[in-house]
Amino acid sequence: MNQYDLNGRVALITGGGSGLGRGIGQALAELGAIVVAADIQTEPAEEAASALRQQGHQAMAVKMDVTDPASVTTAMEAALSQFGHLDILVNNAGITKMQNIEDITPADWEKVFSINVEGMFFCCQSFAQILRRLGASGSIVNIASNAGKVTFPGQAHYNASKAAVMNLTQSLAKELAPCGIRVNAVCPGAVDTEMLRYCMLKTIEDAPAEAKPTVEQLRATWGPAQLGRLIQPIEVGRVVAFLASDAAEIIRGQSISVDAGNTPY
Ligand SMILES: NC(=O)c1ccc[n+]([C@@H]2O[C@H](COP(=O)([O-])OP(=O)(O)OC[C@H]3O[C@@H](n4cnc5c(N)ncnc54)[C@H](O)[C@@H]3O)[C@@H](O)[C@H]2O)c1
Repeated sequence: MNQYDLNGRVALITGGGSGLGRGIGQALAELGAIVVAADIQTEPAEEAASALRQQGHQAMAVKMDVTDPASVTTAMEAALSQFGHLDILVNNAGITKMQNIEDITPADWEKVFSINVEGMFFCCQSFAQILRRLGASGSIVNIASNAGKVTFPGQAHYNASKAAVMNLTQSLAKELAPCGIRVNAVCPGAVDTEMLRYCMLKTIEDAPAEAKPTVEQLRATWGPAQLGRLIQPIEVGRVVAFLASDAAEIIRGQSISVDAGNTPY
């Protein structure tokens, strides 16, 4: 078998209804994976699954709130009962908010960490419990960010949450190795999604009236300089697919920059 193949592997993607989640679903499905789009928003998840089915892939949507362990387990069990196994988990659900340090309230901090860090942890915990019960092996890929490595102004809580994801990736990789579960992360740069659009809008709002850029102007400048454009979700998805595959058997606990060389480590 081709080591890069994901034929018949069931891949649950949190935040699978939009942006990066959809690009990751597309990349995995193109390599043969069965995609479970898990999202707090039912409609986009249904649309993502339906778009894949129209291309001839197998896919389902499931409602999941990553901050609620009961919801996480229910969604994973639903995927398991539909397809009989669960092989890949992509922890992609995440949020940010453009705020200066002095404006971040305890509730803002708590919200970012509850989705980006605790939610990702609950998903790994539930996935590991299910795979241990089945005596199966699997692979987890966490979506961190280059913000976790180099930090960006105006989102201290987000930067810290993504550093936590990278750190947790190492703990999980070590502790879950005996159960046959590999764990890695990717650190994308600026990807053309709704989340990035919110950041751009904030940048426009904050710009002096005489120099307000348009979203299109920002799109042209926010991408990695070496690329000269924004990263597309499927480009991150292809790296996720590689890390999830047997071809990456030897890679564990790593947080790999996927930002066209902007972050030199
Ligand atoms: N867009 C970028 O430039 C960029 C760069 C680096 C990393 N990332 C990371 O990629 C991931 C996806 O970001 P995106 O840009 O596609 O954002 P997005 O806002 O387009 O999509 C996020 C998805 O997560 C879902 N979600 C939010 N809260 C949830 C919850 N509690 N439970 C389940 N699902 C929930 C949303 O419904 C949405 O479908 C995030 O973790 C983000 O931090 C994005």
